[in-house]
Formats: sequence, C-alpha cells, structure tokens
Amino acid sequence: MNIMVGKPAAAEQQVPARGRKRLRDLLLQHPDVDPYPEGWFVLEFADKVRTDRLISKKFFGQDVVIYRHPDSGQVICTQAHCPHLGAHFDSYKNGGCLEGGIMVCPYHHLRFDPQRQIENGRPGPLRIYPTIEYHGFVLALRQRDWTAPPLPVPNLGFSEVDEDDFLYDTQSVGVFNGDMLVPLMANADYMHFQTVHGTPEPVCDHAFSVSPDGRECYFSFELLARNVHKVDEAYPRAGRLRGLRRMFARPPGSKKALPEVLTRVTAAGIGPGLAKSRWWEPQFGIDLLSWLYVTPIDPFTYELFMCHGARTIKAFKTRPVQKALNAVGLQAHMFANHLYVGQEDPPFYTADKLRLYQPAYRAKDQIIDKYIGWWKSTFFTPEFQRMIEGYDLDFS
Ligand code: FES
Ligand SMILES: [Fe+2]
Repeated sequence: MNIMVGKPAAAEQQVPARGRKRLRDLLLQHPDVDPYPEGWFVLEFADKVRTDRLISKKFFGQDVVIYRHPDSGQVICTQAHCPHLGAHFDSYKNGGCLEGGIMVCPYHHLRFDPQRQIENGRPGPLRIYPTIEYHGFVLALRQRDWTAPPLPVPNLGFSEVDEDDFLYDTQSVGVFNGDMLVPLMANADYMHFQTVHGTPEPVCDHAFSVSPDGRECYFSFELLARNVHKVDEAYPRAGRLRGLRRMFARPPGSKKALPEVLTRVTAAGIGPGLAKSRWWEPQFGIDLLSWLYVTPIDPFTYELFMCHGARTIKAFKTRPVQKALNAVGLQAHMFANHLYVGQEDPPFYTADKLRLYQPAYRAKDQIIDKYIGWWKSTFFTPEFQRMIEGYDLDFS
C-alpha cells in the first residue's frame, strides 16, 4: 500500500489565518494592545437593577456586578472579583451578599462599600465603573485608565425636540458574534434600507460633519415618494413583509397624495457605542427617535440594545389623547422595528465579520467610508489600528 504523506503546498502554508482566529492570535501576541473603544455603553435595563440583588455581567471582557444602592438610589457597577483573594461576589449565583448597599464577599466576609468610594472620588480597592441612567437604560463608562477623570457623558438627547413629548420603549435585540461596527454603521449604510428592508430607494446628499471635539458625527438621508415604486421588484431578497410595508406607504385605492418625503432621517454617531437617529415620517403622521446601542462583551461578541421614542406629528390639545396616539405610534413602530432590526438585519450581524478592511466602496457608500474612518480613528488606539492592518472582510 502506498501511503503518501506530503507537506502542504507552499501556497497553502502562506494563507494567513483569518477572522476570529487571526484576531485572537494577534491579541495573544500583543497583550498590551487594547482591542476596545473607550466611552459610555449600555450596561443593563434600569428597571432590572435592584437594591437587594447583584446582577453579574461581562462588560468589555471583564466580570462586573451591578446593583442599586439603597441610600442614594445610584446604580453601582464594580469589578465582580473580590480584591482579597479574588472570589466572585456572586459565587453562590443567587444575587446575595448585599447588606444595606455594602457588598460582603461570600468567601472571607470582607466588606466593601462602593458608595463611599464614589463619594471619596478617589480610587479605592474596587474598580468602579461610573454609571448614568437614560430613558430606561443604565449606561456605564469603560475607560482604559479608570483612575483618570471620567470621560464626559455624551450628548445622548435630541436638543431640537422636547423629549418629554415622546413615549419610550427599550429592547435587547440580541447577543451577536461579530464586529460591533456592523449595527452601528447601519444608518451610514443607508442603501441597505432598500436592499434589506424593502424601503423606497434612499437619497443622500453625502454631507458628513464631525463635532468640534471629534466624538460625534452627523449626516442625513431621505426616502422619497417618487421612489416608492422601487420598493420591491428590483430587490426580491428584501424583507419578507415588504408588500405590507408598501401598502402602509401607499394604501391601495388611496386618493391622498403622498408627501414628497416619506421619511427624513437625521442620524448621528455619538461616541463609539451609540447611533441615534430621528425618523420624521409624515405619511404615517409620526415622529420617531431611535437609539441603537452596542456594547462589547468580548472582542468577538456584542449585545445590541435599542430605545425607541414616538409621538404624533400633529399635536393634540388633550394630554390623554396625545398619550394614547403616541402609544399607538410606538407600538406600530415597535412592530416595524421587530421586522427590520429583529428579523432582517441579524443575518448580517451574525456573519463572522471582523474589522472592515479596504472595502470596495461605490459612489453611494461615501457616508459609510467617512463613518468607518471616523469611528476607527477616533475611538481605538493607534496600536490597535496598526495591529489589525491586514484584516480583510471575513464572512466565513
Ligand atoms: S476572597 Fe473575598 S474576602 Fe477573601
Ligand atoms: Fe437594517
């Protein structure tokens, strides 16, 4: 019997490892290089955080515990492992070990009061992550040097509207393996609304501006009535319920003239983990606010959260009527969003896609190009950017 044991061909040996494996190898070779951005990120739903129970989470590759201090009401987020010999504060996995806001380590019963550490304003034994609450979410600051003065809270709101006029809802879209950039750049990739979600073809002036401090960017696009006929046929792969969507845009037999602009979207990237946008929809009579938050769990995994705000464009004098109609608008939007972000985007989120490298941009992709350039160069260290040079798109 002739058994041939040959060496792999030279060309085969030269093929570089791609995707996750390549990033994992690089991070092992360069343990000092930080693979994460710095900034404020959604940590948890505010109403889940209790005074008598710890919640354990992974946040940027670190184990953390979260609870609400019974005295101040502030959400506390600290390292999950005891500074003494490293036991997890929730080793029993029952959320216990809290005594009046003090964490008592279950191993040797040493006591830690994070609130006092926060009041002192000086680093103590525990790593504390500063937190804020905003429209139903707790956000925490992830900063490389956690002893340095905290980075300011970004501009989360919409200054051009009174946010009290809107009704809000929050959701976790899910946990995905892949690059956190993909959902964040969805608005910049405005053409995907047509090809993935079956909207009329968007138009964009390609204007892209950045705030003076460099941590925010702004752009806009519109869905026009004259493109409504382009919803379906050219894009047979677009969203499954596109017929329904089209009917909403133009109910059969409707004599009412469509407004020229079906949807006007003003979008912003706020820091490294938030894409916020306002969706002005005159054909539905609704004004929507959208916050899309992405939080890394580890370098390969992220959780995607969303907050939605809705109000009718027409203002109603009676408060209960206004509230009821806002609720109807919000539910309609949540349903649409369930189809859009919950059903149609995840195939792209879960693709094993790492950092975008030298994509073949088309003329319509100018905003994506600018958004990715801004995002990578602003929020990642130069060392990390150099290290991942050579990454290619990886859908394997
Ligand atoms: S490990 Fe926590 S008190 Fe010893
Ligand atoms: Fe999408």
